Amino acid sequence: MSISEVKLINLPKIKDPRGNLSFIEEEKHIPFKIERIYWIYDVPGGEVRGGHAFKKQQELIVALSGSFDVLVDNGKEQISYSLNRSYYGLFLPAGLWREMLNFSTNSLALILSSTPFSEEDYIREYPDFIKFKGI
Ligand code: TYD
Repeated sequence: MSISEVKLINLPKIKDPRGNLSFIEEEKHIPFKIERIYWIYDVPGGEVRGGHAFKKQQELIVALSGSFDVLVDNGKEQISYSLNRSYYGLFLPAGLWREMLNFSTNSLALILSSTPFSEEDYIREYPDFIKFKGI
């Protein structure tokens, strides 16, 4: 639940003149079992997605195509990550507020999640997040 656990994971990249290949194995390249995969695409210019926190969900966010920023916030400090390579994944533990913004045209955000979808796991209002963190 600490912002210091957020890390940019350098995924395997098999370079090949026919085109490069990357992959992810659960509990090896990422510290959780994958329960769900979703992706965000066709984001109109200037839109912000994912402005919320999760109580339990851990995740890995990959810019499969194009670029976008992920703003991570623990209630006290914020760190912004720019994702623009398909062989880097941003690991986020549970309990952090995060927003995804500055999507480039045709960008594709892949999210690997440690939990099935559950609205109960969301904290959607920032003041509730601050309360959750006990700040
Ligand atoms: P949400 O995570 O709230 O996206 P954002 O924070 O970018 O607005 O998801 C948008 C909607 O999609 C919301 O109604 C919940 C639904 N949804 C699912 O049904 N299953 C899923 O796996 C996800 C990620 C979202």
